[in-house]
Amino acid sequence: MRVVMVGAGYAGLVSGACFAEFGADVTCVDVDRGRIDRLRAGEVPIYEPGLDDLVRRNAESGRLRFAAGPGSEVGAADLVFIAVGTPARRGDGHADLRHVYRAAELIAPHLQGYTVIVTKSTVPVGTAREVRRRLHAARPDADFDVASNPEFLREGSAIEDFLRPDRIVLGVESARAEASLRELYRPLNLIETPILATGIESAELTKYACNAFLATKISFINEIAALCEATGADVHAVARGMGLDGRIGRKFLHPGPGYGGSCFPKDIAALARIAAEREVPARIVEATIAVNSAQRGRMCEKIRAALGGDVADKRIGVLGLTFKPETDDMREAPSLHVLPVLIDEGAEVRAHDPQGMDEAAACLPDSIRFCSDPYEVAETADAVVLMTEWNAYRGLDLERIRDSMRGRVFVDLRNVYEPGAMRSLGFRYCGVGR
Ligand code: UDX
Repeated sequence: MRVVMVGAGYAGLVSGACFAEFGADVTCVDVDRGRIDRLRAGEVPIYEPGLDDLVRRNAESGRLRFAAGPGSEVGAADLVFIAVGTPARRGDGHADLRHVYRAAELIAPHLQGYTVIVTKSTVPVGTAREVRRRLHAARPDADFDVASNPEFLREGSAIEDFLRPDRIVLGVESARAEASLRELYRPLNLIETPILATGIESAELTKYACNAFLATKISFINEIAALCEATGADVHAVARGMGLDGRIGRKFLHPGPGYGGSCFPKDIAALARIAAEREVPARIVEATIAVNSAQRGRMCEKIRAALGGDVADKRIGVLGLTFKPETDDMREAPSLHVLPVLIDEGAEVRAHDPQGMDEAAACLPDSIRFCSDPYEVAETADAVVLMTEWNAYRGLDLERIRDSMRGRVFVDLRNVYEPGAMRSLGFRYCGVGR
């Protein structure tokens, strides 16, 4: 099958490389010529475990190509995916669809023969139909269908998520479009992946509903964690007891500094807007957002309290800056909310992150000193704050950390360490909800 992937960003590049891995003939196109040149030279512009290899292997085999565009390659394609960015529009939280519609505009003149145009970006309900309206207005003669095929990729495990998904959701309006998409995903039949064909609006809404539900689980457990702190319960025991109930499930019940990243905050705000526009109450979604933003403040309060109520002139060593491990992505990372508050209150901050320091330096206050390893972060610190649960921080030489610190406070915002063991080592340890 011939596939054109419009947008060589995160979702487009991962999806394009994985479709090539499935055996399709894929051209990833982007309006950013510099990005295309780098990809052609074998340079993958984002950090995602396994992506370099996958791109290189499929490019070498000739199944994955890169081109500035969209342009003439659209003519030969069976499927054209739109995987461009949909950032939150400044001011109102709406998904900004300019890039999506611009992609449709650029695709239209090149359509030849029957083509399925598929939105892969997370887009508000009704977007695929609007894409169809615009394509039809530009090319009333063209033979095409639109479809929606949301991705459920997690940063850091996107390749595994793509190649071994829980399910594929296809929003289609014709048997022809469904057959074409099923053919593309046929390699997944081997591992018996459920492929769900629905209407286009249902597929579009499924993506938002999934992200909002997962974010709600996180905000829920964070609220329970606060209650655990007030009652002497241990949130991990509570989460385990909840998660073993098959109706609830164990995943996404890990407390922490609140969810961040490129998807949850943006998509959940967009879902609240979609509901507001239709005058449908979305109280749970709104509460999820409010609890998440309060959680950041609660983390600042936790650090303040651990340091005796005031962080002025305290030296704080921060381990991890990205919104989660295995990514260099700083978008909506809790560190962006917590660190500036501590610095404003007079703390001296040092930090380390295995992948995110370049990104972090561009969006955090200049006064932060970046360290080359976690031990340098701890040296003469009054407190160490574990902000992101990178594997590199799971097996630290804690005695070395303790002995090089000026104080004894260890604030573990991801509950990586056992409170009892940390206290026996002499730390004034504090986690979340235990
Ligand atoms: C998410 C969705 O999982 C994915 O399906 C969608 O396509 C994009 O958004 P991602 O943003 O990469 O993926 O990260 P994910 O692993 O889901 O974590 C999101 C945030 O929730 C992170 O900030 C993480 O630290 C936090 N989280 C996750 C928790 O605080 N507790 C948990 O139990 C799980």
